[in-house]
Amino acid sequence: MTEELKLLFSKKDIASAVARLAKEISVDYANKKVVLIGVLKGAFMFLADLVRQLTIPVEIEFMRIASYGSQKESSGEIIIKKDVEISLEGKDILIIEDIVDTGLRLSFLLDHLRAHNPSSLKVCALVDKKSRREVEAQVDYIGFEIDEGFIVGYGIDFNEGYRALPEIFVID
Ligand code: IMP
Ligand code: MG
Repeated sequence: MTEELKLLFSKKDIASAVARLAKEISVDYANKKVVLIGVLKGAFMFLADLVRQLTIPVEIEFMRIASYGSQKESSGEIIIKKDVEISLEGKDILIIEDIVDTGLRLSFLLDHLRAHNPSSLKVCALVDKKSRREVEAQVDYIGFEIDEGFIVGYGIDFNEGYRALPEIFVID
């Protein structure tokens, strides 16, 4: 099976979105230390680029959750495959996600992390598909907003393929 890829965001587009986000986050969290929680696997490349441009001290954690459903649609059933490994109590937490689509995964993560009593809990997503939201899930820092299309590259997969591409493509 071969899919057709159409360039959506170039290396330059991504670099400038990451630089803008890093600046916003560094200003908002000035004089604080933030725990960044990267959501595996999709956010690994974004997180790696973002942290190198932050001017604030950070701790890096990862979570991995699985949702059942078809490849392109998520469903309501979500389980934790890998949880954070430190106490989050009283800390400033910033979730780093690849894409927020229906919002189901993010709202699950928010509920789970809120139960750890952090001092603050915010969300940074590389891509926000705001118009597709099914449950409320606030994204505080957004790289790109798109309305439709299934995207791959820059950490984001289709059937585990295309993650290593340095740019973001729409797939047919
Ligand atoms: P949702 O917000 O619960 O619907 O799930 C968002 C997750 O679905 C993302 O973290 C991705 O893993 C996956 N996803 C949503 N849209 C896309 C896409 O366009 N390409 C690849 N994965 C996607
Ligand atoms: Mg995926």
